[in-house]
Amino acid sequence: MVSPFEVLDVDEDADDEAVERAYRERVKRAHPDQGGSVEEFQLVRRAYRELSERDADGDESGDGVDPADVDLTEDGEARAPASTRVEFLDYEAIVDYGWSLDDDELFRKASHADLGPDAHGRLLVHPDESLLEAAERSGFAWPFSCRGGACANCAVYLAEGKLSQPTDHIMPDDLAERGFRLSCNGYPLTDELSVVFNVKQRPELDDLILPPGPFTRR
Ligand code: FES
Repeated sequence: MVSPFEVLDVDEDADDEAVERAYRERVKRAHPDQGGSVEEFQLVRRAYRELSERDADGDESGDGVDPADVDLTEDGEARAPASTRVEFLDYEAIVDYGWSLDDDELFRKASHADLGPDAHGRLLVHPDESLLEAAERSGFAWPFSCRGGACANCAVYLAEGKLSQPTDHIMPDDLAERGFRLSCNGYPLTDELSVVFNVKQRPELDDLILPPGPFTRR
């Protein structure tokens, strides 16, 4: 397995400043918007997190940038936002209230409806988490099945923001262009997201759904 030092191309005795400098350079090249891949982007972020946690354990004076706080500006420069903030809404609420998935006022309407915390709310996605992993860490039971890009059981509708889409996935281009993404292997690429989860019951996703199995939720 490649060590975080190799990923960032720094010596094992590199100080915080050198690690941070290497990270900022490396993450810029790895960013999917700059010609890198999602996998590479996550690998670099994970490496930086590991080295930062090492510093936190062994060096109280370490004042490096939290990996959760580093992203790229539109110009491709490294900068420092927080973890991605996600506002989510359960598709079942849309059906129950007779709303439309592409309604621009959807999340405002949800804010004024009497929805439970599982149906509408907010969560944080850490840099090395997929959207589904973050939802689960936050205690939510969003649908999934294969967890590997081979079905649409975990599908979400992206109302705002950017969520990565790995190359090896089942989602057809036309549905991806309309905003459908997979939460099990989708990683946020923006500071904020608004997503509708549980959209697997949409008719256009019917053919992509796996039947219930031992690892299927909902
Ligand atoms: S659970 Fe099958 S693609 Fe996400």
